[in-house]
Amino acid sequence: MQALIAYDTQSGHTRQAAQAIAEAVRAQGGEANVKYVRQVEAADVQAADVLFVGTWAHGLFVINVHPAGAADWVPTLPPLTNKPVGVFCTYLLTPRGLLKDLGKMLEGRGAVVKGARKFHQNQPGKNAEAFVREVLSAAGLAGK
Ligand SMILES: Cc1cc2nc3c(=O)[nH]c(=O)nc-3n(C[C@H](O)[C@H](O)[C@H](O)COP(=O)(O)O)c2cc1C
Repeated sequence: MQALIAYDTQSGHTRQAAQAIAEAVRAQGGEANVKYVRQVEAADVQAADVLFVGTWAHGLFVINVHPAGAADWVPTLPPLTNKPVGVFCTYLLTPRGLLKDLGKMLEGRGAVVKGARKFHQNQPGKNAEAFVREVLSAAGLAGK
């Protein structure tokens, strides 16, 4: 099983979460390709059985919390037709509806959301194993 973990970041927390997800994929016997989301190419998506796509919470902390950068980079991603995806984010106070919004944006490009996980910025990889297990299992990829 091959996973593509694509992340956006400003100060590194979301990259740390992406790396923890990659380690969890490897621990479960898969291969992981970790990429800055703006550098994802069609071949990266084609090679992947499952995607993990994450960014950070950007807003005014209680209002207008949105997936940072996603309005710019989701439309430029290669087609995601039928690709199972786990969405994730890092945040400081609350991600509010960010994960649902990001999932809908990716579904607009053809992806099928199989799980979502928020990571607090102070513990950016906490419980990444459980998140990966959940997504792989929902995608029918556990143990492959
Ligand atoms: C300009 C700016 C706006 C932010 N807005 C929010 C917010 O609305 N809600 C929240 O929980 N965290 C907010 N944060 C905190 C970030 O989401 C958090 O620090 C995140 O882990 C940063 O990810 P990164 O290190 O990958 O860039 C904001 C941070 C910045 C710099």
